Amino acid sequence: MRTGWSELALTVDRASIVPIYRQIYERLREQILAGALPEGTRLPPERSLAERLDVNRSTVVHAYRDLAADGLIEQRVGSGSRVASLDGGRPDRSSGVPWWVTLPPWRVGEFPAVLGELAAAEHGDRIAFVQGVPPAEPSPLADLARSFERAGGDVRFVLTYGDSEGYGPLRALIAGRMRARGCAIDPRDVLMLTGSTQGITLVAQSLAEPGDEIVVEAPTYPGALQIFQIAGLRALPVPVDEDGMRVDHVEAILRTRRPRFIYTMPAIQNPTGVTMNADRRERLVTLAKRHGVPLVEDDPYGELAPPPAAPLLAHDPEYVIYLSSFSKTIAPSLRLGWLVAPRTIYERLLLRKQSIDMASSMYIQAGVRGYLERDYDAHLAALRAELKERRALAHAAIERFWPVGMRVQQGGDGYYLWATAPRETRARALLANAERRGASFLFGEAFYAQSGGDHNFRLALTPVPRAAIEEGIRRIGEAAR
Ligand SMILES: Cc1ncc(COP(=O)(O)O)c(C=O)c1O
Repeated sequence: MRTGWSELALTVDRASIVPIYRQIYERLREQILAGALPEGTRLPPERSLAERLDVNRSTVVHAYRDLAADGLIEQRVGSGSRVASLDGGRPDRSSGVPWWVTLPPWRVGEFPAVLGELAAAEHGDRIAFVQGVPPAEPSPLADLARSFERAGGDVRFVLTYGDSEGYGPLRALIAGRMRARGCAIDPRDVLMLTGSTQGITLVAQSLAEPGDEIVVEAPTYPGALQIFQIAGLRALPVPVDEDGMRVDHVEAILRTRRPRFIYTMPAIQNPTGVTMNADRRERLVTLAKRHGVPLVEDDPYGELAPPPAAPLLAHDPEYVIYLSSFSKTIAPSLRLGWLVAPRTIYERLLLRKQSIDMASSMYIQAGVRGYLERDYDAHLAALRAELKERRALAHAAIERFWPVGMRVQQGGDGYYLWATAPRETRARALLANAERRGASFLFGEAFYAQSGGDHNFRLALTPVPRAAIEEGIRRIGEAAR
């Protein structure tokens, strides 16, 4: 007896960043290759499946078209879609299809949704308040180039693999800077990273297994959400208000759940720009210890706060894994960050890093070391002043050009403004309208693990020329009207 499509097991996950058409394709591909849908099985008509799954018909059309292109189904006008003959009589059903069709299932999160959005929003000559990159001025380039020239003279180490832990003198400098911020750490606790993104990946893979739960802020950094999703982790969201993460919500979660870690940005949170107050920091660390759940502190913006906030790590180096980066203070192209981890798990993270890239570039580390010694503090001071000026310009323009009811989170010290559109306006619609007027931003849903952010959006104030801030904000205001 042939399997009818009425028994077809097919559901879609709307929270996933894998597009729905791709999920439909994947589920059907798996069932066809496994023999659950044998040759000749009629697939549901596009319209019925679309109705059953509550999706657009074009979504199902797209999935079927890809299945047909891969030789898994045959589509005939008038008689619908049927599972194709794959094996030509051979026992291995996959032997008749191209190799890429037989790859392991494409589980979760491998679609770089946010990266796609970034590329789209940066399009053309728009004033794109999109990427979180340092402003063009003050430029670190001249001093950095001089430092690289000096480092290049020492060929004993700059052209080798070097230690996986990182370049010793740089680790010592970083540990010294962190001790000045109240953290009782040693250079041996520092692991250099090829960007802090690598650190988030190491933590996600080393501290948790697919299916495990973790706590994240809502909203939070989309790059981290993507890493967690690829690692198969399930994010439990905790809201953020003007004093940072709602620690009372964390407490409620810990009463009944056992997440593997709590991912937080206590200083200049991305995207809201808020900094966690002292009382919540204290309570969060106490909670983490009481429940035996480590904190993952992501702190690339910490040194931009006037004055730099003491990290959570300063409260307890045993319960905090600290991550930071030079991407936001010098340049993301360096791909250089670091983490600080307790001795108990340092080796775990180190071995995994080795398996990814052996070591971060010695040449880059040596160049940055010289820059840190001579130029970094002056650059940080100039950068803080620049950010303050940009924020003032932006707030003045918002006051002048935005309609009543569209406002930004107050009190941020960083790169971003987190905005709320008027109640009846969805941020995606506002973005489409703003793009037509030559301005763009990142819409709020990208910052949420599940739902949320429909009416929010993030303005990055640094990637545009300072002189364009007012005009860009005016265009967004016009789009909102
Ligand atoms: C909170 C946060 N963590 C990590 C990163 C990524 O940093 P890196 O360039 O060091 O990988 C970013 C970049 O936007 C960020 O905002």
